[in-house]
Amino acid sequence: MQQRPLGNTGLMVSEIGLGAAQIGEDQAVPKKQVEAVLNQALDLGINFIDTAAMYGKSETHIGKFISHRKDEFILATKCGDYEIWENGKRKIIKDYTPDGILKTIDASRKKLNMDVLDIVQFHSIPGESDNSEAAFEALLEAKHKGWTRFVGISQDGPRGAQASAKWPLDAQEFTYNILYQEADEILFPTLRDRQMGAIIKRPISNAVWQLTEKPDGSFMGGPWERSQTFPLAELAGDMPLIEFALRFTLSHPNVSTAIVGTTNPDHIAANVRISDGQKLPDEILQKTKQAFTERFQS
Ligand SMILES: NC(=O)c1ccc[n+]([C@@H]2O[C@H](COP(=O)([O-])OP(=O)(O)OC[C@H]3O[C@@H](n4cnc5c(N)ncnc54)[C@H](OP(=O)(O)O)[C@@H]3O)[C@@H](O)[C@H]2O)c1
Repeated sequence: MQQRPLGNTGLMVSEIGLGAAQIGEDQAVPKKQVEAVLNQALDLGINFIDTAAMYGKSETHIGKFISHRKDEFILATKCGDYEIWENGKRKIIKDYTPDGILKTIDASRKKLNMDVLDIVQFHSIPGESDNSEAAFEALLEAKHKGWTRFVGISQDGPRGAQASAKWPLDAQEFTYNILYQEADEILFPTLRDRQMGAIIKRPISNAVWQLTEKPDGSFMGGPWERSQTFPLAELAGDMPLIEFALRFTLSHPNVSTAIVGTTNPDHIAANVRISDGQKLPDEILQKTKQAFTERFQS
């Protein structure tokens, strides 16, 4: 497994990380499978795991199944958003008050069974009705208290770039993949200037091109629409499409880690095999960027 620096934190992270959102879906994934996924990731050299207070049982599972292996991995979680269950229904709470932020981080420490977290990020940036200054100060306070070594935000687009330019953050999580290359112009320049780590969510765009019908909702529906006009197979040539997509993301020199979400140990093994230090040839990279610009930016 190739490793890369996470900005100027001094941490070296596996270029393929594990996105632990899906393992939090308690009803859908048996606990034995969650345990196997987490251990498989560590056994195969993944040393970066991304979770969040909002990801169901994800933090609890990590605490239970692999916190005894903590010296083998770097743990990033998120606060600001969390979930509650009311009358059997999942409800997302957005709480960017200083008190809410600190309480959520403290609860994460307990669920994860870790006194000191490695990275805590805002799940998105505070909303217009929030006191943004007070929110960022609370996040930084968690660092000063020693609850987390580093802080960051998970946010795409110009608002993400503005927050990272303004606050002393260590890392930013955002979307960058073959179908969503906007970060090239919007986010990477700020991260380079600030020497921040780049944690890439949705690095294979949820492999939406495999779906025969447009899924509901913009989270999957937007990427699916883009996939319908993008010449993925033509650009990939003989390479399997998931491999091509992951190699594209990893070919960006400023990516620190691509956190692929999965609940399947075999998929972890397949993804890890792609970390062989081979970037896509320049000619294919340029054609892929050109295809994106022509379709989605002109
Ligand atoms: N707002 C935020 O902060 C935010 C938003 C979205 C995501 N995230 C984070 O980013 C992580 C990754 O994003 P994501 O999961 O949405 O997108 P993704 O990593 O691009 O795609 C995940 C999907 O790809 C499939 N997959 C993975 N490896 C595969 C393989 N080798 N072959 C076939 N299918 C494969 C997985 O299904 P299988 O389970 O079948 O492998 C899963 O459905 C999340 O887990 C989460 O930690 C954060």
